[in-house]
Amino acid sequence: MLQSSLQAVVLAAGRSSRFTTSKTKLSHRLCGQELIAFPLQLLSELQIPTTLILGYQKELILPLIDQYMPSALWVEQKEQRGTGHAVLCTQSLWTADHILVLNGDVPLLEKSDIEALIEKHISSHATVSCIATYNADPSVKGYGRIIKDGSRIAIVEQREFTGNPAEQCLLNAGIYIFKRTFLEKTLPFLTTREDHHEIYITDLIEKANSLGEKIELIEVPFDHVRGVNTLHELWIVEHIKKSMLITTLMKQGVRFIAPQSVSIDIGVTIGQDSVIGYGAQLRGKTAIGSNVVVEPFCVVEDALIDTNAVVHSHSVITTSHLHRGVVVGPFAHIHKQSILEKGAVIGNFVEVSKSTIGERTKAKHLAYIGNARVGSEVTIGAGAITCNYNGVTKNVTTIEDKAFIGTNVSLVAPVTIGERALVAAGSTITKNVPADALAIAREPQTTKEQYAPLLKERYQRAAHKPSTEKVA
Ligand code: UD1
Ligand code: CA
Repeated sequence: MLQSSLQAVVLAAGRSSRFTTSKTKLSHRLCGQELIAFPLQLLSELQIPTTLILGYQKELILPLIDQYMPSALWVEQKEQRGTGHAVLCTQSLWTADHILVLNGDVPLLEKSDIEALIEKHISSHATVSCIATYNADPSVKGYGRIIKDGSRIAIVEQREFTGNPAEQCLLNAGIYIFKRTFLEKTLPFLTTREDHHEIYITDLIEKANSLGEKIELIEVPFDHVRGVNTLHELWIVEHIKKSMLITTLMKQGVRFIAPQSVSIDIGVTIGQDSVIGYGAQLRGKTAIGSNVVVEPFCVVEDALIDTNAVVHSHSVITTSHLHRGVVVGPFAHIHKQSILEKGAVIGNFVEVSKSTIGERTKAKHLAYIGNARVGSEVTIGAGAITCNYNGVTKNVTTIEDKAFIGTNVSLVAPVTIGERALVAAGSTITKNVPADALAIAREPQTTKEQYAPLLKERYQRAAHKPSTEKVA
């Protein structure tokens, strides 16, 4: 079909009252992507000019249009008076011969479903074509049923349905193509439902039928057209989407130890032979290479993890790059565009923030490395801290190749530790240390021979005679 003969209208003005959250359901995320992004991406791929109907909390939807389909137009439905009224609000923008109408809350719909609907509509010269699905489960709620009774065909909403749900189990998916001329002739004249003060788009089916217009249906699997009206339905749909993403990755040779426990976003990629542990959360645009291990309960967001890296359990890695063979965690926090170069080891309870760690550098226990440029083959001892913040500004610590930072060292930035320099344990370093130097900045030790029993005796005496006697 020529592009110019089809345009799409996406219904996104509804109040989301069954969703029971303070924000419109269309701004909630499913595998990391907002619900409204799904139809917009689909229509972008199909290059169908699109108009959205916005109303309730439109300020939350508008930035998402900019993000996912900047070419889309929108109109406002000031009062939410039903799906038919919503489509009517776009009338001044109807220019194409056929109008594709989609509910905004059907995120698992596939491109091939829309293509099949277009194909059917055009090849059969139908006036109205709809996507339908079979589901005989009587507990499935919230869908209109497509009732064919002799020559009559109509969509009956759930609350008006009195038949046997197991027998009349053809459900309306909320996705239609109408000839524009038919919409112009009928939609403005649909009657408002007395009980809900709404105009239903679904009433157009019976209308087309009574006018002797051709109606076509295509059937797609129920999972493709699950609507999201409640948080429970969002949960179900997210499970389905997640299992699709994980299945694709499994086919590419990725091992998930407990796939049901993992959460994964749409943009995540993982290479062959990588192993993803229990409860891992892989978010945003994370790209994991091949043969990487992500152990249980790690959170990885917008991160690059190259081949052969190991992320031990309970580590959090965001907006950072772990090069080949890096080992991180358990309980490590790597964030704010940090870069860990080849073979670096960042151990338990170590935080790396906005820093570069050179090749084969090690910080294996309890350290904070912030705003630092750390060279290669540096050793950073347990409890070492870069004091990067003076209460007003952040300052840089530079540690050059092969330097050794002892246990419990505080490096007060801005400061530079030269190549191969050695900083003694417990030092507080405020001045630059040149290459190959030893820096010690701590109180010299005092040792008093035989003083320990003496002191103990004094303490005991003081404890038994609560007097004014003072302990030295
Ligand atoms: C609708 C259909 C139902 C179908 C189901 C499929 C009607 C009357 N019923 O029911 O037959 O089986 O979808 O999922 O159409 N919206 C507006 N303005 C409004 C009301 C709704 O823009 O005034 C938007 C909503 O934001 C939503 C879409 O229209 O994206 C569908 O509305 P919703 O209330 O979810 O309809 P359902 O009850 O699911
Ligand atoms: Ca719905």
